[in-house]
Amino acid sequence: LANGLGVTPPMGWNSWNHFSCNINEKVIKETADALVTTGLSKLGYNYVNIDDCWAELARDQRGNLVPKKSTFPSGIKALADYVHSKGLKLGIYSDAGYLTCSKTMPGSLGHEEQDAKTFAEWGIDYLKYDNCNTDGSRPTVRYPVMTRALMKSGRPIFHSLCEWGDMHPALWGSPLGNSWRTTIDINDSWLSMLANADMNEFYAEHARPGGWNDPDMLEVGNGGMTKDEYIVHFSIWAISKAPLLLGCDIRNMTKETMEIVANKEVIAINQDSHGVQAKKARMEGDIQIWAGPLSGYRVALLLLNRGPTRLPITAFWDDIEIPPNSIVEARDLWEHKTLKQKFVGNLTATVDSHACKLYVLKPVA
Ligand code: DGJ
Repeated sequence: LANGLGVTPPMGWNSWNHFSCNINEKVIKETADALVTTGLSKLGYNYVNIDDCWAELARDQRGNLVPKKSTFPSGIKALADYVHSKGLKLGIYSDAGYLTCSKTMPGSLGHEEQDAKTFAEWGIDYLKYDNCNTDGSRPTVRYPVMTRALMKSGRPIFHSLCEWGDMHPALWGSPLGNSWRTTIDINDSWLSMLANADMNEFYAEHARPGGWNDPDMLEVGNGGMTKDEYIVHFSIWAISKAPLLLGCDIRNMTKETMEIVANKEVIAINQDSHGVQAKKARMEGDIQIWAGPLSGYRVALLLLNRGPTRLPITAFWDDIEIPPNSIVEARDLWEHKTLKQKFVGNLTATVDSHACKLYVLKPVA
């Protein structure tokens, strides 16, 4: 969407994966505080996104959305002011139907202009627009109405389309949103994470600056996967140019979680100016090689072992679009070291079960 936003994939946090409907203004404020004190905001995590369940079920007499009195007593404008005072941005959630998915609050169908205006007045910077409880019409009919309403609102608002992939939003999302879901909801498990990664990869050609494929938010730090599995999760999201929206409790992160999500070099791949989503370059059984071009003739390379045993994995230059005889320097982004050996024609590494290696390759001759 040509609103100047999402030039690189959005980064930040969203309440849903960890808190689901158990949100309130205290949690949102404390999360904003924690993004700053942990240093995550400096690394680019600047959106604080409220998901479903923030509003009263009934609109007011003028038809305006009303923040839930018991959980957001100070209102959303005050929250936006607070979040902005920390140098962060505030995101909100609505739905292209009559009720949101939780059915605890109204959707924006039929109120698009009014709600977009409300969001702009409150100082909202990001809208996640869900697809539950609709009138049965196609999303390609309902989503453009909100896009136009946002454009008329007078405030640049990142538009995240949350149709869960059924109607292939990657094929029609680019004039309507800055990102579009390609998958059903993620859950905090290895298989769900990989299923979403696979589905999202299918649409790789449709991602570009201004509009990104969205395999759903991160589960890193929520406890359902091993450290290596979370590293795979974060690595694939990074090279896939997916939104990096943290989904854990930022106020209580372990050192291990922090080490993963604060890896500057992995974030740099995600935010690379080239904006090209990595693809599967080769697959053999449990082995997968994913690669994608980066700025400066560099290549991001992921060696992924999806199987139960440790395996050697070889990436050939031919498969990853590096000229045949190039001499290549390899930086291991999780070991944080540039390998002494230079590579010609291919690179081999042994990869643990349910783990990956992530490199930036740089042809040096
Ligand atoms: C479905 C979306 O896919 C989720 O990310 C979340 O926003 C829920 N709806 C909220 O009800």
